[in-house]
Amino acid sequence: MKNKKAVFITIEGCEGCGKTTQSELLKKYLESKGLTVVLTREPGGSIVAEQVRNILLNPDFNVAPFCELMLYEASRAQHLEDVIKPNLQKGHVVICDRFTDSTLAYQGYARGIDKEVIKKLNNIATSGLKPDLTIYLDINPNKGIKKAKTVNKGNLTGGDRIERESLKFHNNVRKGFLELAKKYPDRIKKVKTSEIIEKTQKEINKEIDKFFKKKKIYV
Ligand code: TMP
Repeated sequence: MKNKKAVFITIEGCEGCGKTTQSELLKKYLESKGLTVVLTREPGGSIVAEQVRNILLNPDFNVAPFCELMLYEASRAQHLEDVIKPNLQKGHVVICDRFTDSTLAYQGYARGIDKEVIKKLNNIATSGLKPDLTIYLDINPNKGIKKAKTVNKGNLTGGDRIERESLKFHNNVRKGFLELAKKYPDRIKKVKTSEIIEKTQKEINKEIDKFFKKKKIYV
């Protein structure tokens, strides 16, 4: 499915970890190395998938856990066809702000849905596509959730539907990410989030340089 030069990077983490800022900085960094980079996100990233995102994050909706899982997977299946696959086929670098690890962490570790079921659904929605590299930005949810709720997302004062979950929920999300990082150390690189954006960026770029040098894409 992928062009040989294509690289698929995902950025993961709990609420308020700075993924979005760091994804944008990473795009600029890789562009400065002469690469063509597409930055996208989940849930969402394409017209239909963004509509699914609106349902998923609307705090006025009461969404049943399995419906929530299926909507994340539906958004992913659409996004894969619209954005991820075509760009990888062209040999571009695709950076995705959240992907399948988020589903395991949020719907599996925190919501309590059987992780084997999630793995199967992730596999179906992605046609088996796995990230080449995942940067996991680690933050204590105690800090992160406060930060996330202050970011202006339209009229969502008090946070979106997921941000409004309990601290216990968000601690379980973090536990999930930490376990996944331990389980897949070759793919998932844990970076501790610093209050100083440039410090976090430097740590991410170290992992990125290591990966791209190993792949002999730039040296
Ligand atoms: P974000 O793009 O602002 O990080 O918001 C997306 C929210 O959706 C965030 O709270 C994490 C959550 N999420 C899941 O629960 N499962 C998933 O599979 C994905 C991709 C995101």
